Amino acid sequence: MKIQLVTGNAAKVKTDLLVLPIFEDEKKPDYGRLVVKFLKENPKFGKLYEIQLIYDDQKTLLVGAGKGEKWDIEKFQNWVGTATKYALSKFTDVTIIPRWQGFMPHQAGESFALGIEVATHDPSRDYKSQDKEAIKLKNVSLWVEKAEKGFLEGIRKGQVIAQSVNLIRKLGDMPANEMTPSYFLNVAKKVAKENRLKITVIDEGQAKKLGMGGFVGVAQGSEEPSYVIVLEYNGDRRSKDKWGLVGKGITFDSGGLSIKPGLNMHEMKYDMSGAAVVLASMQALAKLKANVSVIGVMCVTENLPGGRAQRPGDIVRLYSGKTAEILNTDAEGRLILADGLTLAQAKGATKLIDLATLTGACVISLGGVCSGAMGNNPVFTQDVIIAGSNVGERIWELPMYEEYSEMIKSDIADITNIGTGGPMPGAAGAITAAKFLEAVIEKDTPWVHLDIAGTAWDLKPRPFCSPGATGVGVKTLVNLISK
Ligand code: BES
Ligand code: ZN
Ligand code: MN
Repeated sequence: MKIQLVTGNAAKVKTDLLVLPIFEDEKKPDYGRLVVKFLKENPKFGKLYEIQLIYDDQKTLLVGAGKGEKWDIEKFQNWVGTATKYALSKFTDVTIIPRWQGFMPHQAGESFALGIEVATHDPSRDYKSQDKEAIKLKNVSLWVEKAEKGFLEGIRKGQVIAQSVNLIRKLGDMPANEMTPSYFLNVAKKVAKENRLKITVIDEGQAKKLGMGGFVGVAQGSEEPSYVIVLEYNGDRRSKDKWGLVGKGITFDSGGLSIKPGLNMHEMKYDMSGAAVVLASMQALAKLKANVSVIGVMCVTENLPGGRAQRPGDIVRLYSGKTAEILNTDAEGRLILADGLTLAQAKGATKLIDLATLTGACVISLGGVCSGAMGNNPVFTQDVIIAGSNVGERIWELPMYEEYSEMIKSDIADITNIGTGGPMPGAAGAITAAKFLEAVIEKDTPWVHLDIAGTAWDLKPRPFCSPGATGVGVKTLVNLISK
């Protein structure tokens, strides 16, 4: 989409559609006779994302912005998205007069571009054979009083990040018969080539030789070839700091022999979202020429109950050297992630973040409202949480008390892959999963685990975005790492 800035007399802007925010509890703007008349007759208008088109001299779209005091950067992005999605098949040129006061110009520009690009992209277009309404929209302008440099810089940055958000959404929405580990690998190769990233691919045979027993144990149940993919971006040769990003890339999670119930099993095509976030973040950081070094590890395989699938009761030796007793083959994410985290450390990562659609328990605790964070270093965990809140991605920390470590002790091996001995089966499931990962982290390496099981996809109809994968995570990582 072409996104630009306009300044000058707002009342004289020439455009196919002018978009205005209407706050529920504030004095209504005085823009044209029919707008004023409508708002007088509908004094309650202004609920978040409600819309009304007015045929004044200038066609005007009123978009509700909710209560003024609740206005934040997340609502701002989605408010812009609501206007864009409405206009997409109806208008060519749109000018938006937003409320951005309270945000920095670059922050406003970034969210503005994100709102537009995310609303424009609908992955289901690739699968519907009946034509959807054609996209008419070509230009969207941001009207501001004064053209500060920050706005344009923010818009350009937002477009780069949006490309990454939309890449995750595309890969997540793709069905597992197409989005296989090999397909994911091809996308990673393309991203590496386009952005001059170093890529290393470990196939199943090599993983076995290296001793990645957690990864291999999961991969052996599927006929599809599996890969641990490593991307490296070196934008800072002087410092020894190296970010390590590790993602869970289960292209389909049937549960394995501990098979899942049929209801909603199809949603497990999204179980590769963590790996997609890592790939997309590497892409964005390289495109933004961030002054940092980052290594991204993506563990990509399927969890299927094939004839060679691992069994409950199996014991595997993780890449770290620790042994894990498999009590439930559906707790597969932690097995592949543990090996990915060990690999990232072996390759010199000094700060670790992993992302995974790891547990249903996290969805039970937090719903789709925020992601869960668990880590070994409270300061680092807070840094991640704050980076998220500055870009409208909500993250809530869960505790990592010692007692939770007791719950993954095994009678026969070092650790178990599910928690036991709690007050009920599955107790503290999000945390015991994190405890499993913590077991392979070197003591002094700051590490945060983000459980995005509830936030990585959203099937509710929204006025600002088509349903499916959300692309959550990349905004947080890019904001945290590139500053
Ligand atoms: N991919 C799932 C987690 C999940 C469940 C994500 C629902 C999104 C929605 C994960 O691999 C899994 O199956 N976890 C099990 C762990 C259990 C067996 C300890 C779970 O949460 O039920
Ligand atoms: Zn899974
Ligand atoms: Mn599972």
